[in-house]
Amino acid sequence: MTPRVLLASCAELPESDGDDTSLPAALGELGVSAGWAPWDDPAADFAGADLVVLRATWDYPARRAEFLKWCESVPNLANPAEVVRWNTDKRYLVDLAACGLDVVPTQLVAPGAQPDWPDAGFVLKPSVGAGSVGAARFGPGSLDVAREHLDGLHADSHVAVLQPYQETVDREGETALVFVGGTYSHAFVKGAMLSDSAELDGSGLYVDEQLWPADPEPALRRAAEDAMDAAGTVLGVDRRELLYARVDLVRGPDGRPLLLELELAEPSLGFRQTDGGARLRFASAVRAALLQR
Ligand SMILES: Nc1ncnc2c1ncn2[C@@H]1O[C@H](COP(=O)(O)OP(=O)(O)O)[C@@H](O)[C@H]1O
Ligand SMILES: [Mg+2]
Repeated sequence: MTPRVLLASCAELPESDGDDTSLPAALGELGVSAGWAPWDDPAADFAGADLVVLRATWDYPARRAEFLKWCESVPNLANPAEVVRWNTDKRYLVDLAACGLDVVPTQLVAPGAQPDWPDAGFVLKPSVGAGSVGAARFGPGSLDVAREHLDGLHADSHVAVLQPYQETVDREGETALVFVGGTYSHAFVKGAMLSDSAELDGSGLYVDEQLWPADPEPALRRAAEDAMDAAGTVLGVDRRELLYARVDLVRGPDGRPLLLELELAEPSLGFRQTDGGARLRFASAVRAALLQR
């Protein structure tokens, strides 16, 4: 019988932002029937699908508890609900740093607490967030505005993440290295997001991005492999069980790659920034994941 896969999206962007448009056809070529459905659509038969793949569920930050409950209700979800729970709160960066991974220095600031304010530029963002929404950059001389931003995050019940601003991002952006079925697939570069010209997309779910294809040097590829191994260790899973992963790296002041984000829930995978082979690898990995159900 033809396996049925549902690609989970959200009501505002029911077929993603266009990056995943080629996936249903790529899956169809391999004998897999694939369609889109917003995760909170009561008419969608997620329980009856052979596999549900989180692709564009970008509205979860405001409704994370409800979203995680839904994830747990889906019998066959990629990536699995426990991975999504861990990965949709940037506190996971602290777990990865504890494994010895080079991570952008991260302070977590819970409501009611105050951070050690840095004496150089820094970023404040919600620990549960996506698409750069709620992220802002401050200079060392703008503590008043930063305090206001922190109060705003806390008023919305967010734990805040405070990180030193990595100036290299202004020159070379961040590099996203995409893994499919635990194996490196392709990479792309994202320009700096916290600039004055940054604007929200019409959906309000993400800040418009500038992306380019990339061919990362060995130090970046090795750092991404280390991040994948560390995630496997923390999660207690074989990294090959992760249908997809995106490792976002920036270069620290000394040039060493630092982990900015590890995306295991619904990252854009940059299919439009790479050759057609990436979607074929993705479709093949879905076929392999179907065997494990
Ligand atoms: N510490 C940082 N240094 C430089 N730029 C940052 C830093 N933190 C965030 N940014 C910028 O803000 C964007 C959004 O932050 P990120 O941590 O990727 O959260 P998300 O993508 O989940 O909203 C990044 O793509 C990057 O351009
Ligand atoms: Mg990001």
